Amino acid sequence: MKPTLAPYPATRLRRMRKSPAMRALARQNTLTVDDLIWPIFVMDGTDDETPVASMPGVVRRTVDRVAKAAVEAQSLGIPAICIFPYTGMEARTEDCAMAWDPENLTNQAIRAIKEAAPDIAIMTDIALDPYNINGHDGFVEDGEIVNDRTVAALVKMALAQAEAGADILGPSDMMDGRIGAIRTALEAEGHQNVAILSYTAKYASAFYGPFRDAVGASSALTGDKKTYQMDPGNSDEALRLVERDLREGADMIMVKPGMPYLDICRRVKDSFGLPTYAYQVSGEYAMLQAAAANGWLDGDKVMMESLLAFKRAGCDGILTYFAPRAAKMLGG
Ligand code: PBG
Repeated sequence: MKPTLAPYPATRLRRMRKSPAMRALARQNTLTVDDLIWPIFVMDGTDDETPVASMPGVVRRTVDRVAKAAVEAQSLGIPAICIFPYTGMEARTEDCAMAWDPENLTNQAIRAIKEAAPDIAIMTDIALDPYNINGHDGFVEDGEIVNDRTVAALVKMALAQAEAGADILGPSDMMDGRIGAIRTALEAEGHQNVAILSYTAKYASAFYGPFRDAVGASSALTGDKKTYQMDPGNSDEALRLVERDLREGADMIMVKPGMPYLDICRRVKDSFGLPTYAYQVSGEYAMLQAAAANGWLDGDKVMMESLLAFKRAGCDGILTYFAPRAAKMLGG
């Protein structure tokens, strides 16, 4: 008599993995182009781009090239693009006034994208770091990052971006009370339909290293961001932050970084069931690209697997530098 697996027939779980068709039927989570938000870097000048050394495959683009990139992203079906300005020391001042200048790089890029690719949603970053002399997200007084004065500046920055035509504002500064202050100002100024994607659970992470090179902040930054970004050891605090941001008027919330914090994504999604996003940050991108360049990992496969992991963890979307490449693989 042939041996059989006892005692339950259902212990043959391999039945559902037998063929591509069976695996497709059984698959719980899938990645689609609708899940992608593409972060891009904008710099001064015309018709030019420069590579970001620590992020192979990523470039900084002038405003006109950003508009072209947006057209390409739109044709690939990518629903949103997120703008980060590259700023030299000349844009950085004690009062950070450039942050709410209607003519700053971000606001120029918003208008150029709206004109060239009207169907793609435009997301922004709200924080003082590109324009701050010391590279911090908030004003520094006597060595301390001051909260409320910073929030007032962030509100001005938010209004300038909304005025330029941004669809989704992304406060990434981690000051207390900024979501409520920004939402109140948007309502008062007739921008009721501008969404807020709050960088709610943003950890003080070493995975942001390559990004700080990309935006020119590495040499400007003095000290670290631990008094405002979250402690990597904490998990419950993320839920308190989400609850607070929701009450203050956030439409969407983000966990950042991504892959090392998938447990947070899952807890947030299970607790609130609201639109939840993860940021696969610069260091995660650099790590995968470096291993692929060395032939140690299959670049395409780890890219797709890492993105799918966010869906499995409960995310509704992912900010990723891989967005156009992933969109192409998804058949866009
Ligand atoms: C700045 C900001 C950072 C990132 C997005 N917005 C860096 C930081 O907080 O120092 C990181 C993005 C990435 O690493 O890809 N407010």
